[in-house]
Amino acid sequence: MKWYSFPEITDTDKPFIQKVKIADKSICVVGYEGKLFAVSAICPHQGFDLSLGSCENNKIICPVHGYSFDLQTGKGAQDYIKTYPVKIENGVVCVGTTSVWDDIKQLFNK
Ligand code: FES
Repeated sequence: MKWYSFPEITDTDKPFIQKVKIADKSICVVGYEGKLFAVSAICPHQGFDLSLGSCENNKIICPVHGYSFDLQTGKGAQDYIKTYPVKIENGVVCVGTTSVWDDIKQLFNK
């Protein structure tokens, strides 16, 4: 697991959706009801930017056609988005990315 810091994300007590980039990945860092989440910013339906959406009932909602995805699991009604580990370390939001091998191992641990 490799962690990336985003000191530009401040005041994580208020609800927010902020898009960050890690290599070629667009990721939404989401503050919702006092918790932090990190999910892919690409809607699997038609590729719209989920960071322009909203959150409701622990889900991020795409603003185009309204598909929604669980912030914790990434699961939607028909599809899913990738989730990433997120933490605050020394007051700075950090998002973790995994290798393909890490993802495979995680599948077998579910
Ligand atoms: S592009 Fe996101 S729901 Fe259609």
